[in-house]
Amino acid sequence: MQEPLIIELPKILDERGNLSFIEQNNQVPFTIKRAYWIYDVPGGECRGAHGYRENQEFVVALSGSFDVVIDNGKETRTFHLNRSYYGLYIPKKMWRMMENFSTNSLALVLSSTVYDENDYIYDYEQFKEEVTQ
Ligand code: TYD
Repeated sequence: MQEPLIIELPKILDERGNLSFIEQNNQVPFTIKRAYWIYDVPGGECRGAHGYRENQEFVVALSGSFDVVIDNGKETRTFHLNRSYYGLYIPKKMWRMMENFSTNSLALVLSSTVYDENDYIYDYEQFKEEVTQ
């Protein structure tokens, strides 16, 4: 998949409380190598303004809400995540930023690669150069 995509997750409704789940290569279209989460974000802060060369991600707002801004080098789209039963798939070679975190928000990020600082593109002009090649 080349485009960002909101993916609905299974929702098992239960009077005792609801349950959702994610399986690799199923709801999430890649093999999960890593999970990390972002929490205790002070008001007004933004995270993750960079691109990845290879890493794909799946982001879920497990609690609270935030915006994920995705830029493919040509156009920018903003996705508002505010439920724990859907997530945003982010293909590789996207510039992405997370902002407008609500109080007590919790962002779960599943990744297709282990952490590799060489996979990051921090310079926007370099990102544009690499994605338009
Ligand atoms: P970074 O991905 O740059 O966060 P953001 O893009 O939201 O600002 O990561 C911040 C720091 O955490 C950086 O020093 C690398 C480290 N880190 C890891 O060690 N492993 C990881 O899986 C991630 C995502 C970050």
